[in-house]
Amino acid sequence: MDLQGRTAVVTGSAIRVGRQICLGLASRGARIVINYRSSAGAAAELVEEIRRMGTDAIAIQGDVSRSEDVARIASGAEQAFGKVQVLVNNASIYPRTPLAQLTAAQWDESIAVNLKGPFLCCLEFGRRMAEGDGGAIVNISDWAVFHPYPDYLPYLTAKGGIIAMSRAFARELAPNVRVNCIAPGPIQPPDSLSEYEQHEAAAGTLVGRWGSPQDIASAVAFLIEGSDFITGVVLPVDGGRMIA
Ligand SMILES: NC(=O)c1ccc[n+]([C@@H]2O[C@H](COP(=O)([O-])OP(=O)(O)OC[C@H]3O[C@@H](n4cnc5c(N)ncnc54)[C@H](OP(=O)(O)O)[C@@H]3O)[C@@H](O)[C@H]2O)c1
Repeated sequence: MDLQGRTAVVTGSAIRVGRQICLGLASRGARIVINYRSSAGAAAELVEEIRRMGTDAIAIQGDVSRSEDVARIASGAEQAFGKVQVLVNNASIYPRTPLAQLTAAQWDESIAVNLKGPFLCCLEFGRRMAEGDGGAIVNISDWAVFHPYPDYLPYLTAKGGIIAMSRAFARELAPNVRVNCIAPGPIQPPDSLSEYEQHEAAAGTLVGRWGSPQDIASAVAFLIEGSDFITGVVLPVDGGRMIA
């Protein structure tokens, strides 16, 4: 799919990795719908930055775990730009949840944002794409699903579900909509990660370093624009972490 003149919705995309995904798609001529939950200022700045690049963007606040918010994001995107051809499910929370203190509420929250959110977006946008001219969906999982580390059980379970869900949606939405998944390795450390943990994460890759949000943006663009013959795959972008 040629991204020029297409419309892409990227969830949780005002800052960090999502922001870079937006810039990558915009640099290929796509109009961008930035979804954010709380980063209103950063979202407004990103809209301006994308407009200066010569394409268009809007920002829509919304919680992806709420079906009414997802429906509002979809209708807002269509009102602004017409049909949506690209969805990137990037929004996520990453709370440390040690087993000794793990609660059902923490489980519910992680599953709601990290799995139900992408499900609601795939359902809402995927149906619209399948009924229309088709499209492409990229879901963001995590390499650690395959080699879980401690203290993140609900997050890792949700991210594992995203892989199964991507494959199932690839079947459900075929042939007009392709659905793929990216499993990032260490890309951009959260503020909560200690220097020691950051060093360990880099040392655990085959290339001996962290990647960058640009690596994810490039992979997203490839899965949308690089080939129309790829669907239902999980692409690790992890510096070899999964096999190290
Ligand atoms: N960073 C890494 O090294 C790494 C490694 C493996 C996997 N990943 C995955 O790659 C993706 C991007 O990573 P990241 O580190 O940039 O993510 P992040 O900073 O943890 O979160 C990205 C955005 O998600 C949004 N968000 C959270 N809950 C939301 C909700 N209910 N509705 C809508 N948006 C919500 C937040 O928006 P607001 O700021 O507007 O509140 C936040 O800016 C995530 O899916 C993550 O799991 C990242």
